[in-house]
Amino acid sequence: MTTILEPFDERHLVALGEMVDDPELLRFMRVPEPVPPDFARTWLDRYEEGRRDGSREAFAIVDEDGAFLGLALAPRIEHDARTAELGYVVAPAARGRGVATEALRRLTEWALEELGMLRLELLISVDNVASKRVAERCGYVREGVLRSLHVKQDIFEDTEIWSRLATDA
Ligand SMILES: CC(C)(COP(=O)(O)OP(=O)(O)OC[C@H]1O[C@@H](n2cnc3c(N)ncnc32)[C@H](O)[C@@H]1OP(=O)(O)O)[C@@H](O)C(=O)NCCC(=O)NCCS
Repeated sequence: MTTILEPFDERHLVALGEMVDDPELLRFMRVPEPVPPDFARTWLDRYEEGRRDGSREAFAIVDEDGAFLGLALAPRIEHDARTAELGYVVAPAARGRGVATEALRRLTEWALEELGMLRLELLISVDNVASKRVAERCGYVREGVLRSLHVKQDIFEDTEIWSRLATDA
């Protein structure tokens, strides 16, 4: 399956609204629970603001026909430190087909080559086996565990930090 990254915008709001209640997404991502009614719009506004000031970026993952498959994210871009945190989520119906692996490959290439980052980070729950597999497949290195890291609201969780450097092969 061909996966394409296109800037996340208005066109993707409905698809995001349909995906945001997925239990896996809520379990492993920083989406508040219960999900506020206008959350997709709030999320788009935050990323469009980040796109303007260079602090964040979001892509929709789509297939060759433009069908929405998920999101590829840079929730934190630090230009001075040349370091960015990346993230990804795939729509439940599109999981298990290599979409996240392909999307992270493209997102990594974009962050290293277009943004000029030297260090990329992934924060992955110790319980998220699938995401760790995606990180490994994309050449990220597991550095260790951040114990009881704040995830959202009153949720704290042991979280693995994985990295990829511009100097990695
Ligand atoms: C994690 C997630 C992005 C994976 O998306 P995906 O498109 O299914 O991922 P891929 O198909 O590219 O690869 C998944 C890999 O994990 C493996 N995997 C999936 N579920 C697994 C499980 N429960 N146990 C072990 N391995 C698992 C698959 O076999 C595959 O490995 P392989 O390529 O060696 O076969 C998707 O499950 C998701 O959106 N989850 C909710 C949000 C989330 O967790 N985002 C990441 C936050 S760090």
